Amino acid sequence: MRAVYCIQYGGVENLKIVEAPTPVIMKNQILVQVRATTVQTADWRIRTLEMPKGMRFMAKLFFGFRKPKQPIFGTEFAGTVVAVGESVTHFKIGDEVVAATGAKYGGHAEFAKVSEKGAVIKKPSSLTVQEAASIPFGGITALDFLKYKAKVKSGDRVIVNGASGSVGVAAIQVAKILGAHVTAVCGSQNVEFVKSLGADRVIDYSKTKFWEENEKYNVIFDIVGDLKTTLLINSLAEKGKLVLIAAGINQMLEAVAKNLFSNHRIICGVANESKEMLTEIIGLAESGKYRAIIDKEFPLEEIAQAHLLVQSRHKRGNVVIRNF
Ligand SMILES: NC(=O)c1ccc[n+]([C@@H]2O[C@H](COP(=O)([O-])OP(=O)(O)OC[C@H]3O[C@@H](n4cnc5c(N)ncnc54)[C@H](OP(=O)(O)O)[C@@H]3O)[C@@H](O)[C@H]2O)c1
Repeated sequence: MRAVYCIQYGGVENLKIVEAPTPVIMKNQILVQVRATTVQTADWRIRTLEMPKGMRFMAKLFFGFRKPKQPIFGTEFAGTVVAVGESVTHFKIGDEVVAATGAKYGGHAEFAKVSEKGAVIKKPSSLTVQEAASIPFGGITALDFLKYKAKVKSGDRVIVNGASGSVGVAAIQVAKILGAHVTAVCGSQNVEFVKSLGADRVIDYSKTKFWEENEKYNVIFDIVGDLKTTLLINSLAEKGKLVLIAAGINQMLEAVAKNLFSNHRIICGVANESKEMLTEIIGLAESGKYRAIIDKEFPLEEIAQAHLLVQSRHKRGNVVIRNF
């Protein structure tokens, strides 16, 4: 099969399109012909090992010291089931599915395998493969952190810092679905765009520093990761929650101390890519409450350009790779 291998950590020149062995499935797995996948922040971060402060060593420990142990990246995809293991009961050959593989990666290939019990579900016919493939990474992160970890409720004031990227566009939409009043922070070029996603108020970060305003928020959802925790806490309401999805090791340690000794809560960690979470976010898209946002589509041959656009940290929503 054709696949994109990352042969070494570093620049996009290390991404090579190769003929690779087709994955062999176990009895509880399905094999999917990938028709659309994405390049996400998780892909360029692992390629470059550019991680939030203090996380580089951990990343090497997990993904490989000298080069990536799993050379095929891609955290999500949509496509067609072409083989099923003998104990698989919920999928059959020909089913169209959408899957989130997260840190197991594997989506940047012609075929990918996934466990039946993993984050894989049938794709609703109302979504294109490109739309379906672009939803899990941002959507599950927003849903897990806002609904299940921060427990956002109707009437909460939520601010999304980094509102125009993959996680940001999902966070605005999920927070609105939960009934929150949403302030979105993004660059000038994206002000009208994030308004169109339902943000009640938009702050252009090149003009206003939201932490210097007098506003207080029940939940601060920080996607950018470049602000000091103490600055952010100043903008929290009584018992407010600070969600740091790009936290470095210092912020994680600070969180432990602050959670013990203050009435604010700091939430870090990784999103839980489960079948339930995938079902919920894809269900919201199927019902029309949630929109897939795609900035640009690239053919597989242009994977390096796709990586560079995502690495710019200024894409709008998601970047899709199609037509394997
Ligand atoms: N914890 C988890 O489980 C988890 C899951 C998913 C992602 N993440 C992390 O979340 C982070 C964001 O991911 P993403 O895919 O949403 O990123 P992205 O698509 O690249 O979006 C980046 C956002 O940051 C904004 N931004 C860029 N430079 C900025 C600046 N100087 N000041 C303020 N805002 C700025 C961009 O706004 P403009 O383009 O409008 O300027 C955009 O809204 C990454 O670090 C990723 O590793 C963590």
